[in-house]
Amino acid sequence: MKVMMTEHATEFVPPLSFQVLSRNDVYTNTFDEKNSKVVAHIDLADWADLVIVAPATANIIAKMANGQADDMVTTTLLATEAPVWVAPAMNVHMINHPAVVRNINQLYADGVRFIEPEEGYLACGYVGRGRLEEPEKIVQRVHEFFFRR
Ligand SMILES: Cc1cc2nc3c(=O)[nH]c(=O)nc-3n(C[C@H](O)[C@H](O)[C@H](O)COP(=O)(O)O)c2cc1C
Repeated sequence: MKVMMTEHATEFVPPLSFQVLSRNDVYTNTFDEKNSKVVAHIDLADWADLVIVAPATANIIAKMANGQADDMVTTTLLATEAPVWVAPAMNVHMINHPAVVRNINQLYADGVRFIEPEEGYLACGYVGRGRLEEPEKIVQRVHEFFFRR
C-alpha cells in the first residue's frame, strides 16, 4: 500500500505515521520528486491497482468532480486508470448540500465508486449521515471487488 495525503490531511495525521504503517514513502507534495528516474504522480498512478480516497472531504470531491489537479492527490487521481473508490466523511449538512450532491452524482457518472457514509454520531457533535464507513468494511469492500467478481 502507498499513501498520498493532501496538505490539509497532514494537519490531522503526520505523514510519518502512514510511512511507518505502510512501510513506504508518503506522498504529500507534487514537486517532491523522491526518485529522479520517474515523475512521482505518474509513477504512482500507473502503479496502483485501485485508489481509495478516504476520508474524502467535500473539498476533494469537488475537485475530483471538476477535474482539478492542484496537489499530489488530485493530480495522481487524474493520471490513474485504476478504479477509484471514494469514502466520504463530513457533516450531515455538508453531505446533503446541493453542491456536494451534484459533485457526487457527477463522479458516479464518471465511473467513480462510492463507499457511502454511515448514519451515526459525527465528530462535529451532530448525529446523521456523513460518518466515514468503518475501515474494516472499506477493506472488505475492496477485498470483494478483487476476489468475488
Ligand atoms: C476539526 C476539523 C474537522 C474537519 N472535518 C471535515 C470532514 O469531516 N469533512 C470535510 O469535508 N471537511 C472537514 N473539515 C474541513 C476540511 O479540513 C477543509 O475543507 C480542507 O480544506 C480540506 O482539504 P483537503 O480536501 O485538501 O484535504 C474539517 C476541518 C476541521 C478543522
